[in-house]
Amino acid sequence: MKQNIYDLIEKDKEFQDIIKPLIANETVQKMKNFRQHYETTCFDHCYTVSYYCYLICKKYNLDYKSAARAGMLHDLFLYDWRKRQEGRKGLHAFTHGKTACDNASALFSLNEKEKDMIINHMWPVTTKFPKSFEGFILTFVDKYCAMSETFEILQSRLFMKKAFRYAYLFLSLIIIKF
Ligand SMILES: [Fe+2]
Ligand SMILES: [Fe+2]
Repeated sequence: MKQNIYDLIEKDKEFQDIIKPLIANETVQKMKNFRQHYETTCFDHCYTVSYYCYLICKKYNLDYKSAARAGMLHDLFLYDWRKRQEGRKGLHAFTHGKTACDNASALFSLNEKEKDMIINHMWPVTTKFPKSFEGFILTFVDKYCAMSETFEILQSRLFMKKAFRYAYLFLSLIIIKF
């Protein structure tokens, strides 16, 4: 299932043309070194979020280029958010939108909509509303992807648990029989 979506993304030429200058960047590539949700890297999370934002915004004649770009850069914070960082003030959930926007602005020329989308992507955890439809779409897509990345791994762990339980039962029955 996961591989299917990546295959789809790779084959979408228009999306690739929009996203290529961003993902070619060395700093953006560094997101591959940080885990976002369970086994999903920050890069893969942003890449998927970016693609869904692009698809939805394109379907509804919205600014899909800004949506794809902001989606790709919305979590460009480059630290392990599970660990306490020296000198980092405030909780990650409330501060990383601004951090990502500062980091992205230092690397690329972002328009005002893209900046606002990145800063306010944590709404409603943060109270400030995004100023655009594209921004709202990013907030929902981000949460959807976060949940599916989490449930995917929990589901596979549950499956493994069940598989081990049945294997244990099976082995016990064999041992009892002999
Ligand atoms: Fe985020
Ligand atoms: Fe995110």
